[in-house]
Amino acid sequence: MTGELSRRTVLKGAAAASLIGGTVGFGTSAHAATTSPAADGLARKLSVIGTPVSRIDGRAKVTGEAKYAAEFQAPDLAYGSVVTSTIARGRIAAIDAAEALRVPGVLDVLTHANRPAMADRDEAYHDDAAPDGSPFRPLFDDRVLFNGQPVAVVLAEDIETARFAASLVKIEYAAETPATDLEAERSHAVVVEKPWKGRGDAASAFASAPVKLEAEYFIPMEHHNPMELYAATAVWESDGNLTVYDKTQGVQNVQRYLCGVFALEPEQVRVVAPYVGGAFGSGLRPQFEVVLAAQGALKLKRSVRVVLTRAQMYGLGYRPATIERLSLGAKHDGTLDAVTHEAIAMTSRFEQFSRHDTSWSGLLYKSATARYVHRLAALDLPTSCDMRAPGAATGVYALECAMDELAVALKMDPLELRLRCYSERDQNDDIPYTSKRLRECYHQAAQRFGWERRSAAPRSMRDGHELIGWGMASGIWEALQIKHTARITLAADGSAEVACATMDIGTGTYTVMAQVAAEMLGLPVERITVKLGDSSLPQAQIEGGSWGAASVSHAILRAATELRGALLTLAQATPNSPLAGLRAEETILADGRLVALQDPARAVATADLLHQAGLPTISKEAESGFEPDDRHAHNTHAAIFAEVRVDEELAIVRVTRVVSAVAAGRIINPKTAHSQILGGIVWGIGMALHEETLIDHRFGRVMNANIAEYHIPAHADVRNIDAFFVDEPDTVINPLGVKGVGEIGLVGVAAAIANAVYHATGKRIRDLPITLDKVLLRDRA
Ligand code: MOS
Repeated sequence: MTGELSRRTVLKGAAAASLIGGTVGFGTSAHAATTSPAADGLARKLSVIGTPVSRIDGRAKVTGEAKYAAEFQAPDLAYGSVVTSTIARGRIAAIDAAEALRVPGVLDVLTHANRPAMADRDEAYHDDAAPDGSPFRPLFDDRVLFNGQPVAVVLAEDIETARFAASLVKIEYAAETPATDLEAERSHAVVVEKPWKGRGDAASAFASAPVKLEAEYFIPMEHHNPMELYAATAVWESDGNLTVYDKTQGVQNVQRYLCGVFALEPEQVRVVAPYVGGAFGSGLRPQFEVVLAAQGALKLKRSVRVVLTRAQMYGLGYRPATIERLSLGAKHDGTLDAVTHEAIAMTSRFEQFSRHDTSWSGLLYKSATARYVHRLAALDLPTSCDMRAPGAATGVYALECAMDELAVALKMDPLELRLRCYSERDQNDDIPYTSKRLRECYHQAAQRFGWERRSAAPRSMRDGHELIGWGMASGIWEALQIKHTARITLAADGSAEVACATMDIGTGTYTVMAQVAAEMLGLPVERITVKLGDSSLPQAQIEGGSWGAASVSHAILRAATELRGALLTLAQATPNSPLAGLRAEETILADGRLVALQDPARAVATADLLHQAGLPTISKEAESGFEPDDRHAHNTHAAIFAEVRVDEELAIVRVTRVVSAVAAGRIINPKTAHSQILGGIVWGIGMALHEETLIDHRFGRVMNANIAEYHIPAHADVRNIDAFFVDEPDTVINPLGVKGVGEIGLVGVAAAIANAVYHATGKRIRDLPITLDKVLLRDRA
């Protein structure tokens, strides 16, 4: 199964093919789906869905019972330590492993010269999230494509020996000059085709617009830095098969990938990841630790564990640095005449990764004309990849700062400008939304924030030596849903298991699955066991794009519906059944009984049905049954208001308050969903003020490859956050009205903060992060 995601899935009308083919991706309404018309009406009043159930995996996590990829044990386990390149481009001239091999306890040193056999076709390395191009092949040949590339793995009896011996491996390179600076390479960037072509003549409309705003914004390269290190424990089973515990966002994706790379059959590889300590997109594609662990196991014919160091994780993917150019033309009343959004992002020389930065204005704001251009610069770096809200985090940051600048130019309140331009339709495709309560988000968040007390002029609000700034922005993301299959097994004792090969990357999938199953089966959440994160379970796609909850919920709903039908068949096989003559949709499961909807007195205990049939359990599996829907836009929305305080002498920026209202359909679990939004807001603070990967372009090497120098928000950076959900009924998207949350929490946050910094200081800092040197130095300029 090959990826080819960007080409196939962004094309209008390709959705059916891409869903059937199993390829998935972000950033296009061409993916969006509704459930098939035949899908299940929801007869019951919901009592578990929508309640703040605490994480069912919470206890396992806080007690250490939850095992992560590097914690699974195997007899005779060997340890791999990775040696990475110190040049960004060139060839390996020689590897001298003699000294490493002399260390007692060292088993082998794997390099491109002595690794096990690997496929030599690009297709074998494609995965479900692979962009166009030629995927990176770990230890394949002598070519060096980026600094930090794995070039050898030392295998030893213990990790200390492996790491010490890795320091003794000597590598000579034939180095070439790398190019890693996006700014320096921007003129070489090439246009990438995107599905949205814009509308009208934006250039002329801009030229004749009475009020114009043109500005360029910059978002730096960012790395994911999940708490859990990338790790794989490849267990060599007695029959020569592999059980691979891997940190990933898609166990079946990794399984297919390993089968492709090592020419194995699906039954020879099982991939397992019951818990994932954060990933944020970095685990959507198989990463090199899993290839290295598998190479080690296949070479030694014993179990091998490879754990990357924090520094080595800066050799994986990253959010591409992006230059965003906005030109907005408006009338004096705030009506938009022209939007031009151009982006230049970065990728590797071997794959063309890009998402959709430029077309979000078509969803948010009415404008007579629009033009979108996306360019891509190929650099001597690993391929860029998805990071939380890929495309939107960057593109909407620029759009929302530009809208703030336009509001200043128009002498109009920035919220008022958004309301005047409010779009009731997706203008990119001229279609309505399945639901859109962004207006309610604006109103409710503004009210909670106290926006009407804002004094419009910059530098006009202060508290002692601190300047106070209030800024706002809109957020938008996609409500995607893709094919998942769920299996429900009901036991005579009234417990049930629900299983799907989806993932819980910390988002709450376990809990959400248990809630939907409990709801549909009429059982308490405590009676539900959830199985996920195992490639041997029913089919699921990678977990990302905020599509997990909607996708798996609907599969569970359908499996439960089939199960109810099977129970009714059992019931009606009994003479004088109280349920005789009823159709499945005229019954529900409640309190361990199958009950007639219209007459609760007509009921049969499910335990009795199983006993009578001589069945210990009854099991049903069902697919989610989504159909491509080009007739609606499927989106989640947010309104974010931020307060900053800026020390006037020291230019230190503190985010003292964030209010975020989110409209995301029905919220299955307000507690876990709220946590997702909180996490997104904290990330937004980091994006605005802290995060940036710094490269020494002479060597193409990351200089701050550690979480001491790669800054992320600490507790002291996170103050008062008020995040809440706006009620948003959606009867179109799926029977439960679920859209999914996660990424929507981040989009727009950095813009709200940047706009607040402008309001506090009168200084417009367009390149992130907004560090104090920029706040101070630009004042003097
Ligand atoms: Mo996230 S970028 O959808 O894994």
